[in-house]
Amino acid sequence: MSPLEASNTTMLVAANTFRTTGLVMATIAVVAYLGYLAYNYIWGRGDIGSELELAANKKPYLEDAELETKKLDLSLTVGLATIAVIGLALPLYWLGEPGRQEGYIELTTAQLASRGEHLFEESCSGCHGLGAVGGTAPYTVTDSEGGFIANVTWRAPALTTVLYRFSEDEVRYVLNFGRQNSPMPAWGAPGGGPLTTQAVDELVVYLSEIQLDPAEVTAEVDEGIEQSARAVVVAANPDLQGDEAAIMAEVEQYIEAATEEQLGELLFTNPIGSGAYSCARCHTAGWSWDSNGVAVDPEQPFSSLISLQVSGGGGFGPNLTGGATVRQFPNSVNHADFISIGAQDGVAYGSFGQGDGGGQMPAFGVCVGDRGSSDISPVFGFCEVTDADGVVSERPGVLTPEQIDAVVAYERSL
Ligand code: HEC
Ligand code: HEC
Repeated sequence: MSPLEASNTTMLVAANTFRTTGLVMATIAVVAYLGYLAYNYIWGRGDIGSELELAANKKPYLEDAELETKKLDLSLTVGLATIAVIGLALPLYWLGEPGRQEGYIELTTAQLASRGEHLFEESCSGCHGLGAVGGTAPYTVTDSEGGFIANVTWRAPALTTVLYRFSEDEVRYVLNFGRQNSPMPAWGAPGGGPLTTQAVDELVVYLSEIQLDPAEVTAEVDEGIEQSARAVVVAANPDLQGDEAAIMAEVEQYIEAATEEQLGELLFTNPIGSGAYSCARCHTAGWSWDSNGVAVDPEQPFSSLISLQVSGGGGFGPNLTGGATVRQFPNSVNHADFISIGAQDGVAYGSFGQGDGGGQMPAFGVCVGDRGSSDISPVFGFCEVTDADGVVSERPGVLTPEQIDAVVAYERSL
């Protein structure tokens, strides 16, 4: 159900409730009035003229002198007090209204987030890790006819920066439809999954609450570069295995001396957060389940059917090798712009590209989390940060402009 349909249904239900309540109240009023008439008719005094002596307005009342002093003063004082109370209370109430509304939105957001957290622990944390810090998922790789090839372990990316890279609608798209040919199943009703639109919204609110701070993101990327470099160093110097100090010294030196292209490669294959920051998980088939390792694993009977990885050779995302990106982007500047803002569903990019299927190429240079989201709540502007002085600014993206330039240099060399 779309939010609009949902609100229409709510209005219908509300209208019906109002009508029923009204009918019940009208019935009670009519019955009570009939009862009152019957009571008067049955128990009313019959003797004509008796009301003259019994009527309340016939008893002697206060003297004029008293009426015009004490009684009048009392009435006026009560009136004045009432006006004073109304005159003060109404503006005070009105002043508090925005706060009440904000409080209500905060309360609902907190409720949505806590429901989303429960749901996440139940349905998602098995693969993405508790707190969505990244994990692994068991998966069976098959050939195109569905024949068994290998049981593998697939990296399930950390989701603690997912709203930097994707808008909320794009995240909803992934949740609704899953990722084809990967362990990520379709969760939302539109993709045939078990979760309602509201449950998906709750998950998105929960994810927005656990996004890292920009400083934490930078630290993670840097640590990931180190892990990337470590893999390169160990592969090039197998004899260093076990000598941690020597490896770290080599790693530091490698990063120091890295060319722009080499730094780009380290970023392209950044393994931290189960590949959340990497490009290889979408653009290099097999990277997410270490196909090179599986291909030489004697325990896997059909490992000979597994081809070795081609960096940037294409997977869920397109093939970037053979000069593909040079043809797509006439120069590095518009290439870098694309990596920075990613693809949007249906929107053209480069010379002949068009964002497809919910805009799956993430934004790496800007934070796009709160764009394109129409519902949930207005305080839910994830990419806006307010500092101590109340100045609102945009969060930066997960990669710096220099890091994006490095990835671009690497891709243009493929
Ligand atoms: C069976 C394991 C598994 C479960 C359960 C699972 N996921 Fe995933 N999910 C994955 C994998 C693996 C990927 C990465 C797919 C790929 O490599 O293309 C992924 C990708 C995603 C992405 C895209 C992230 C990105 O940066 O590309 C989101 C968002 C996501 N999952 C959210 C969820 C949520 C929310 C749930 C719970 C409702 C969930 N997942 C449950 C395995 C799982
Ligand atoms: C979640 C998967 C995913 C990740 C991660 C990802 N991409 Fe993509 N990428 C795509 C998809 C899908 C497309 C195709 C456009 C679309 O529909 O979104 C694409 C398109 C591209 C293109 C345009 C290719 C062409 O010829 O049209 C380039 C260049 C690119 N990505 C570079 C990168 C770089 C650099 C990174 C890492 C910093 C990266 N991608 C990370 C999924 C991904």
